[in-house]
Amino acid sequence: MSLKEKIIPSKLPEHIAVIMDGNGRWAKQHGEDRIFGHENGVKSVRDTVEAAAEIGIKYLTLYAFSTENWNRPQEEVVALMQLLVYTINAETATLNKNGIRLQAIGDLKSLPSDCYNELQEAIANTKDNSRMTLVLALSYSARWEIINAVKEIAQKIENKTLSAADINEDAISSHLCTAGIPDPELMIRTSGEHRISNFLLWQLAYSELYFTDKLWPDFRKEDLYEAILDYQNRERRFGKTSEQLV
Ligand code: FPP
Repeated sequence: MSLKEKIIPSKLPEHIAVIMDGNGRWAKQHGEDRIFGHENGVKSVRDTVEAAAEIGIKYLTLYAFSTENWNRPQEEVVALMQLLVYTINAETATLNKNGIRLQAIGDLKSLPSDCYNELQEAIANTKDNSRMTLVLALSYSARWEIINAVKEIAQKIENKTLSAADINEDAISSHLCTAGIPDPELMIRTSGEHRISNFLLWQLAYSELYFTDKLWPDFRKEDLYEAILDYQNRERRFGKTSEQLV
């Protein structure tokens, strides 16, 4: 029985989030510069998106560029932005062919204008697809997102369109970039790092965390299946006891 066949369809996570890490180290291992690692990371993005859509995942969020990544050497930032523009442009037709809707979260206005425009175009061109939603986290950090949400809520209180007593989990969730998207049940991070690194801090509250030593450019469909199988073998208790779950 293949790994894919072992996956139980009724126990699939609806939303998987991925921290794609290790492109730089992969490139170094191959005696190449960091950009080569990112270019090869695109192959893993393609494989993962395809596998997720094929098995019926409804939302896949990929951490493609963090707020902190702006501090990388200028040539790496420029190359990553070019790669994003190129990839989004090249893949829009495939996204449409496979029924995948593209969305993005983060401080999108801070992206270079060609990247921002390409992204908005692809989002508009794929907006009617419903098989799976691919969410790219770009210039994203969870603390930035939470600060924004708090500012918006404070503004509504100042305008008297919201009262402090009405602030609850739903009110906060609806002011995050991910409003309307269910929280991820599974978060995968590659490259052996065991951190969340300012990614979806609110949304990952009850997520199962899966870490693999594989570097992102080596991540393939089978690795996604393994992560899902691991998830399916876990008991999600949400603070309850095992006995209460039976
Ligand atoms: C982390 O590896 C990877 C990134 C910061 C960029 C991820 C981007 C891609 C995979 C390419 C484009 C993506 C899309 C969605 C089109 P790292 O550079 O931090 O690796 P290191 O920790 O080994 O240095």
